[in-house]
Amino acid sequence: MTTQYSDVLIIGGGAAGLSLALRLAQDDVSITLLSKCELTEGSSLYAQGGIAAVLDGDDNFESHIDDTHIAGADLCKDDAVRKIVEGAPEAINWLIDKGVKFTLVDGAEYDGEDSEYHLTREGGHSHRRVIHAKDATGREVETTLEQHVRAQKNIIILEDHIAIDLITSQKLKGELGTRCFGAYALDVKSNEVKTFGARSVVLSTGGASKAYLYTTNPDTSTGDGIAMAWRAGCRIANMEFVQFHPTCLYHPYAKGSLISEAVRGEGGLLKLPNGDRFMDQHHELAELAPRDIVARAIDYEMKKGGFDSVYLDISHKGKDFILDHFPNIAESCESYGYDMTSQPIPVVPAAHYTCGGIMTDLNGRTDLKRLYAVGESSCTGLHGANRLASNSLLECLVIAESAANDIRQRLKDDEDDLPKLPDWDDSKVSDQDERIVVSHNWDELRRFMWDYVGIVRTDKRLERARNRVELLQEEILEYYGNFRVNNDLIELRNLATIAELTIECALTRKESRGLHYTLDYPDIKEHARDTILTPNNFVGHAPVPEWSKT
Ligand code: FAD
Ligand code: SIN
Repeated sequence: MTTQYSDVLIIGGGAAGLSLALRLAQDDVSITLLSKCELTEGSSLYAQGGIAAVLDGDDNFESHIDDTHIAGADLCKDDAVRKIVEGAPEAINWLIDKGVKFTLVDGAEYDGEDSEYHLTREGGHSHRRVIHAKDATGREVETTLEQHVRAQKNIIILEDHIAIDLITSQKLKGELGTRCFGAYALDVKSNEVKTFGARSVVLSTGGASKAYLYTTNPDTSTGDGIAMAWRAGCRIANMEFVQFHPTCLYHPYAKGSLISEAVRGEGGLLKLPNGDRFMDQHHELAELAPRDIVARAIDYEMKKGGFDSVYLDISHKGKDFILDHFPNIAESCESYGYDMTSQPIPVVPAAHYTCGGIMTDLNGRTDLKRLYAVGESSCTGLHGANRLASNSLLECLVIAESAANDIRQRLKDDEDDLPKLPDWDDSKVSDQDERIVVSHNWDELRRFMWDYVGIVRTDKRLERARNRVELLQEEILEYYGNFRVNNDLIELRNLATIAELTIECALTRKESRGLHYTLDYPDIKEHARDTILTPNNFVGHAPVPEWSKT
């Protein structure tokens, strides 16, 4: 096999990967873009509510910044919050320029700069500031960016290629500094492991919510980038902050069907099975409290009353309003037998977003030279202990731009040759004998993460989870060492690492803050600190500057 070289290797085709690729492609930069399934399959495609941005004259940056800090329970990094919030209007204009059609007020026609966009409201926001494309914002953004990316001659797109591991100087055992040179990826169709070399490598692989039994995320969210970066020697932060979205449709066949927070933003009420509201007893903002509070309140009411779900009711807004604002959600509910225009729909919380991840600075630089992380796989400090609704796509867009600028500059400054990279060696392994081992372990992991590392935690539950994950790790490593890799094994190995990192972070935090709530330490400490995990092979060579102080 020969190594395929390019200037930049981007792993992942969500909002982060596609916007980074497009920002870079305007220059004469050769890019290889890997996606483990179809290019756009990932969380971005399913985003509903929209993108938070200060676009209204009555709103202001300070208010968006304050709301982000409040939701993040004092753990957000102010420089990250400011940069991303202040970068929002430009990011939105860039998308509009690319052809993204956001919803306008009162069904008006697009009229260039004079167009007035409809802004919706979501939990934790003190203004209407979420720009959206009906209730399918992610699809509109992804498909628009996809068209541009596919039209670029200098971007090679390789779908069905799942990255396995990064190639670093430690791996090469050379004197080349602590640097990333590329990655190995399995071509799922041909079953070959290929070698990709690049001057800069970007992880835009999304989050890790598939570590939980119930999730709003698509199957791609297995934390591959976070696990790869950890193995390569990068620090990982704040993995205990797993965001559970309060309202996922409750139905045995509705796999992770999200009911957007915008439904509550537009007047939807949460009710017990007897029709009583309950959120006003949990927070002054009631249904529009930050997500951690709403999810915990639902969990509490379900446990207290022994209910399988609670109910979300927006039927009082009338059929026309509901179908105009939420056509896709209404259709999805209908396909499971619920008419949201006339009845409350059953909802439960589900794992939704990974606030922690690979520590980066505000240009996406990680601890490893020439390795960047952008989007949900990264931890820039924006989300702190709890992400504010609709700040995620925004982070993808703003950091993708600054990472693109940084990469471009480094490509100009640095003309060094890439070393010859060794091919993947699978001469000592054989084909797997029983796939059932992998699927059984996958199921077990997701179940104990749900039961023991969920919305409400205790040290005892976390210790139990830690014991389970240690056993699983041993089994997976043995399997990995003896058999040829395939998709499921690669993802399972990564999910086990995600579980380990999440549990370690959760055990380290001896307080309840934001999304991490433990019965053993119900109070919040006076000083907010990040939980930073440092791998044994920490590269420490190019430490991310803003984080080294914490
Ligand atoms: P993703 O969009 O998940 O993309 C990751 C990409 O990496 C995928 O293409 C995947 O196939 C690829 N990949 C992963 N591992 C590998 C590998 N090993 N090799 C090769 N490729 C790989 N946020 C908001 O701000 N507003 C919203 O309204 C909103 N709604 C949401 C609704 C839902 C249902 C969900 C699940 C999330 C929502 N979020 C929302 C969160 C937001 O969508 C995500 O955080 C964001 O899209 C992440 O973008 P990303 O580019 O980092 O990752
Ligand atoms: C939603 O539409 O409720 C999801 C918004 C988000 O996750 O930011």
